[in-house]
Amino acid sequence: MTTTSKQIELIDLHPQAADMKQLVRIGLSRCPRQLPAWFLYDAEGSRLFDRICQQPEYSLTRTEIALIQSSAPEVANAIGEGVIIEFGAGSAQKVGPLLEAARPSAYIALDISAGHLRQATTALQQRHPQVPMLGICCDHSTLTALPEHPLLQGQRRIGFFPGSSLGNFEQQDAISLLRHFRTLLNGGPLLLGLDQPKDRSRLEAAYDDAAGTSAAFARNLLKRLNADLGANFDPRGFEYQAVWQAEQQRVQMALISSREQTVTIAGEAWTFSQGERLITEYSLKYSPEHAIALAKQAGWGWVRRWHDPKEDLSLHLLEATD
Ligand code: AVI
Repeated sequence: MTTTSKQIELIDLHPQAADMKQLVRIGLSRCPRQLPAWFLYDAEGSRLFDRICQQPEYSLTRTEIALIQSSAPEVANAIGEGVIIEFGAGSAQKVGPLLEAARPSAYIALDISAGHLRQATTALQQRHPQVPMLGICCDHSTLTALPEHPLLQGQRRIGFFPGSSLGNFEQQDAISLLRHFRTLLNGGPLLLGLDQPKDRSRLEAAYDDAAGTSAAFARNLLKRLNADLGANFDPRGFEYQAVWQAEQQRVQMALISSREQTVTIAGEAWTFSQGERLITEYSLKYSPEHAIALAKQAGWGWVRRWHDPKEDLSLHLLEATD
């Protein structure tokens, strides 16, 4: 389905409800139970994530925006010419300085939330009328190919994956995703933003902020399953928890069942015992050395890195190796 909102064309390839049911079945059969992180991003989830980004404890977004702003001319020079393709664009708050400095032939935003994507690209287009734009609503990890489109034809592809979104994939899945991007980008480079390990107290506060936004974001997953798949979760029956797991260098975010309870999802009953975890997402953190090693396993060579003054996070430029 293709719709036009002002100048922005939106191609809707969102997974169907039947596919989501199957993913829920697989996720709830795992031990511990875990659902794909992209389930968190319905319209309300995307709105709540934007609020997380404004919390004082969650500095990732602010730090990365400042880094991109200050290094945009250098980054633009390093990435070269072509079309910028952003994976998981969300509110598309970060790409602006690159659109100014790199003057790409076009900007293509991929995101799982159609409403959010429409709003974000419409606002961005108003600020950067010189850059042709396209939105694709999809799960970029399972998208087999970018749709054929005039904005992509004959253009060198430059991938942009900021926000440490790769961290929401477990290591093997992260390698598969980077390999997948290599295919989608057709030999073009990838600019990858990754958060780095830091103190436990800082990380646990960032993922369980005092205002309760992170908890509301996780609980919204249950509300989404109720709305979209006819489930009957009682979100108040689950406590939110964010724990730094040092060995795996990741924050585990989970909803803990506060009592034994049975939930029906798409006509199927699932019992949660008291204290049972439903993992809503992981957020893996990568030191520069670890990031380079990960990229290498996925067929990417490391070119260079930009980082903020405190070395909280890095922007890595990768190129496809033969
Ligand atoms: C989108 N992603 C990189 C966020 C993160 O930091 O892992 C998701 C998030 N979940 C709760 N807070 C932030």
